[in-house]
Amino acid sequence: MNPTLNNLQPYPFQKLSKLLDGITPNPSLTPIHLHIGEPKHPTPDFICQELINNLDGLAHYPTTMGAKWLRTSIATWLMQRYRLTAIDPDTEVIPVNGSREALFSFAQAVIDAHTAQPPVVVCSNPFYQIYEGAALLAGATPYFLNTLAKNNFALDYAQLTADIWSRTQLVYVCSPNNPTGRVMTMDEWQQLFALSDRYGFVIASDECYSEIYFDEDHPPLGALEAAHQLGRNGFPRLVVFSSLSKRSNVPGMRSGFVAGDAAILKKFLLYRTYHGSAMNPVVQAASKVAWADEQHVIENRRMYREKFNKAMIILAEHLPITMPDATFYFWVKTPISDVEFTQKLYRDYNVNVLPGSYLAREAHGVNPGENFVRIALVAPLAECVEAMERIKDCCI
Ligand SMILES: Cc1ncc(COP(=O)(O)O)c(C=O)c1O
Repeated sequence: MNPTLNNLQPYPFQKLSKLLDGITPNPSLTPIHLHIGEPKHPTPDFICQELINNLDGLAHYPTTMGAKWLRTSIATWLMQRYRLTAIDPDTEVIPVNGSREALFSFAQAVIDAHTAQPPVVVCSNPFYQIYEGAALLAGATPYFLNTLAKNNFALDYAQLTADIWSRTQLVYVCSPNNPTGRVMTMDEWQQLFALSDRYGFVIASDECYSEIYFDEDHPPLGALEAAHQLGRNGFPRLVVFSSLSKRSNVPGMRSGFVAGDAAILKKFLLYRTYHGSAMNPVVQAASKVAWADEQHVIENRRMYREKFNKAMIILAEHLPITMPDATFYFWVKTPISDVEFTQKLYRDYNVNVLPGSYLAREAHGVNPGENFVRIALVAPLAECVEAMERIKDCCI
């Protein structure tokens, strides 16, 4: 077996199960799960219907590139959402089976492990766990940039030396960020593009939470949008990863796309052809109509907004809680250690949250997730409100 597999860490939810194993949750209360970032709002009927209407697609092998009508639907969405003047559906868009598999396989296609100096993959810390596994299995060393409350969870690129940058082949950024909820600013994009121009690394921009935000007039800035507004010539060394899972409440459908640098996507497509990761034709049909509709996404945001507003009212006096820029997570400092808080909440109040330290690694002498928990407001409104009341009681 590949010995690098031994370097993969247990997934945070495995660690959580172990932590809570043997603890009996308060039997007088119904369980409420806020630890997994799985959307729970209903899947829109028109998406389900489109799946049913296209079942004859099962009789055909799909192409890795996906149908032109799907890529065109995605390109149209990208142009409207990010006010782009052009994006070529034939060279700058590839449908993927959810952003997770693409985030993973992208590193396998991008990283050249046969360089004189061992390659580095940079990502924020805490981070979405796939980045680390993808880097390790591609033969690279992950380098963690701690995102800290004192810097408003911004990435501080100045932490990296020129030596690390010169070995860096890939940078994963996640904006809106899981778990901190922070959205990268134009200045930060400008800085990152300048570093990429200087050192030649590829940027993988994970934007799977881009459509979960609170102010309808201020959608989060995207990487393609930033590149366009900064007057860059196309999207050099930039690939974004997007998904219908959160936007359209279809996490089980496994549908997303990558878009950006045509030369990189051409090679990624070749990789994917061998990897065998073409999108199911039935899913392609449902994805096309999902990307073409915004009404259900506006309604989805309304439901999250309602939950977050109520949660803020209940918790603001009891926890140092702030609204995320976007995403459906609260990333909140705990009054006791994150692990103890999680155990107490489960034991006494039957609520599951995720300890922040499980989403981060110790780097530069600290685990930046320590004494934070991630609370996913995915459950229905009444359950979320009930959970917030219980969390409040846990803090009193
Ligand atoms: C930051 C981040 N990126 C990517 C994903 C993967 O989402 P999907 O594969 O459903 O598109 C997730 C899922 O929770 C996530 O939190």
